[in-house]
Order: sequence, then structure tokens, then C-alpha cells
Amino acid sequence: MGALWSGRFKKDMDSMVKEFNASIGFDQRMYNEDIDGSIAHVSMLAKQGIVTDEEAETIIAGLEKIRAGIADGSITFNVEDEDIHMGIESRLIEEVGDVGKKLHTARSRNDQCQVDARLYLKKEIRNMISELTELEEVILAKAEKYKDALTVGFTHIQHAQPVTIGFIFMAYFQMFRRDIERLEDTLSRMDLCPLGACALAGTTFDTDRHMTAEQLGFSAPTENAMDSVSDRDYMIEFLSDASISMMHTSRWAEEFVWWNSSEFSYIELDDSFCTGSSIMPQKKNPDMAELLRGKCGRVYGDLMQLLTVMKGTPLAYNKDFQEDKEGLFDAVDTWKASVAIFARMLENTEFRMDKIEPRLKEGFLNATDIAEHMASSGIPFREAHNIVGRMVQCCEEKGCQFEDLTDEDLSAIDSRINREMLGDVSIRACVDSRDSFGGTAPHEVERQIKAGRDWMNTLL
Ligand code: ARG
Repeated sequence: MGALWSGRFKKDMDSMVKEFNASIGFDQRMYNEDIDGSIAHVSMLAKQGIVTDEEAETIIAGLEKIRAGIADGSITFNVEDEDIHMGIESRLIEEVGDVGKKLHTARSRNDQCQVDARLYLKKEIRNMISELTELEEVILAKAEKYKDALTVGFTHIQHAQPVTIGFIFMAYFQMFRRDIERLEDTLSRMDLCPLGACALAGTTFDTDRHMTAEQLGFSAPTENAMDSVSDRDYMIEFLSDASISMMHTSRWAEEFVWWNSSEFSYIELDDSFCTGSSIMPQKKNPDMAELLRGKCGRVYGDLMQLLTVMKGTPLAYNKDFQEDKEGLFDAVDTWKASVAIFARMLENTEFRMDKIEPRLKEGFLNATDIAEHMASSGIPFREAHNIVGRMVQCCEEKGCQFEDLTDEDLSAIDSRINREMLGDVSIRACVDSRDSFGGTAPHEVERQIKAGRDWMNTLL
């Protein structure tokens, strides 16, 4: 027997065409979803009197047997099956006989592949949210541990202002929080069931799409059959979510590479997250961090691929759409693994305070604080800014720090200033007093950690 659709054909498919046409090599990953969809469909056909209860029971039992056979490896597929939908349908007909041929009443592979993909993605979105939640847990624990620990805050990769390490962690916490919220949003919009849209225009059978939507755990059926079979927006949204989140891991991975460099030495990456060189015996390279950066490019590629596949496709189904799955699966696998590995790398990283400490004395990290202190004693901020700028010039000429400037040095810069007017210029004091909402002061970071935890509790 030829393909299930072969009635109008005089010739079998060319063997190269068969290979090129088939999606079975990758869409069998959705076999569970395909079987769930078929069970919901045939249950509905029975309820509507389109098949008998007995026929539905036979088909469902056959489908469950096939599910078990795929799981234990006794049922396998090949290119003759073309795709998972026809693979399962032909195994069903082998298993239960002619009654199996009734399953495909009032549906099409065009809606079927979309049911599978939506069910699959809903499951993977939940998995992804739990991976990201675990990463957030690690971030919160580290933020707590390092909420008082001073480090250099940068702009333009130049020393800017002192911050705490916990504060930096909480910045990344916000990014991954938005990633989770974006996934929840994507999930709520895609939670509609395309089953029963059929090829493009619905069906003459008296189906109940509300019933199948409910049985499959969707909030409702999709509104328009033509849109249902041509819509890949939800995949593109997911790939955008993945790309944005991978950009976050990539940015932080980049910081890890910097922090781990011999020039910085802010951290020492755990041996178990590094690799050596085949020629240079001394090397311990931050490969995981670099690979995480690289994986980001790959997920961007998956997003661009699907956007490009879709851009010239008219309504309704076009075979181009079969190209929607490999990139999607790749992004799911890559994103999930990246977040998991990132969380473990983070958990196993400690900061080298002995290396960070001397760097806090470089780059006039307390300059803004001194200007703010002068401004609060009545010198307009713009003037205070200029005065501190000239103090920096003076320090650079003398090769010293603000603390070393004498009253004479200061009054030569501006008659209104003296050492007392600089305030407490210690880095600790600078950080402690940056306690505006969202600032870096330890007790403010503590508030951010608590707010983060409260939000995490709403997720469970
Ligand atoms: N394997 C196909 C896909 O993934 C299923 C739908 C095929 N429909 C069709 N009319 N050729 O898109």
C-alpha cells in the first residue's frame, strides 16, 4: 500500500522526494501529544454519534497500545510513514483493522500538527518556567550571601560607582523574572485548540470543538479555521522569549568570562565547569560561559529562520510550515540546557574578595558621592560635579586618592570646600548611603530579595 493519501496517484513517490518530504525524523518527538489529540478527537466523534462508542473504545485501546509500543521501542517509524500523524494512523489500522480508518473523520493533518505542536509547547513552556525558577532560586541565595560584599560597578567597562555583588545578582534576577512573565503571557495567548479546523475551512460533520478543547486542557477552541492551520505566531513568540532570555544568559556569561580573566580575577570558576588546552598545560578556560554566549546566536538563528519561513506564505496551509519544527525543538533543547548549566555554574562560583578589594581604590568610585555630599551642603550639583572633576585632575597629577588631598589642595580648587565637606568618602559608606528605592545599599538589596521571593511564591 502507498501513502494514506495515495488514491489519486498513478506512481509512487521518487525515493529522494520521500526523504526530502518526510518530517517523521523529527516530529516523532510529539507522539504523545498526537495520541492525546486523537483520543480526544475520537471521544468527541463518539459523543456526537459520528462513530459508535464501541468503535471509539477500540480505537482508543489501539492508540494506547501504540503509545506503549513507541515508549518501549517496539514500534519504530521510517521514511515511509512520512510524518508522525500518518505513522500512528497506519500503525492503528494495522493494530485494530478497518475501524482505525474512521479516526481521521472530520480532521486534517493541518489541524492535527498544530494540536500536537501547541500541546508540546505548552508542556515545554511549563518545563522552561521551572528551569528559570530554579535559576532564580540560585540567584536569590547568592544575592543573600553577597548582599554586603563590595565590588566595582561599571559603565563603558570603566570604574563607575561601588555596588554590592548581591545588587548585581538582583539585576539579573529581574531579567529572568521578565523571561518567566513573558512565557506566562505567551502561554495564555496560545492556549486555544485548533483541533477540528480541519484542512482550512471546518467540516460538514456535526463536531464539538469545545469538547475536544476542554479534554485537551485548552481554554477554548480557536476562532477561525483558516487562521488555526496557518498560525505560527505562538511559535515565533516562544522563539522570541527564548532569544531574549538567551541574550540574558549570554550577557551574564560574558561577565563571567571577564570576571574569570587573569586581569580581573574576581572569580575563580570551579574546575568542573572549565576545560584545559591540548597544548598549553597551564590553561583553565571558561568554556561553559563562552559556550553559553555562543548558544545564544544559535537560538537567534532559530527565531530568524521561522520568521523568514513565514514571511511569504499565503493562507492557508503551505508545506513550508513543516520547517517550523526543527528550529523550535532546537531552541527548546538549547534554552533548557543553557539555563540549567548556568544555574549550576552560578551555584559553584564564589567571589575572590581579596582580589576585588584593592580594585575598589582605583578609578575614583566615590566621586559621585562626594559631589552629592557637597550638593547637600548647598553647592548646586552642577558646580559640585565640576569641583570634583577638578579634584580628580589634582589627584591624577599628585598620584593620590581623594582622601589624600589636603585642605590647601581643596581650597585651591574652590574656596568653598575643605576636607570636612567631602563627607565619609569610604566605599562602604558610599554603598550604605545609596539607599534610594532600587539602590545598592545592603538593606535595600535585602528588600529586593524579599520582593523577589514574594513574587516567586506567587508562581507555585
Ligand atoms: N508533516 C506536516 C507538517 O509538519 C503535517 C501537515 C501536512 N499537511 C499537508 N497538507 N501536507 O507540516
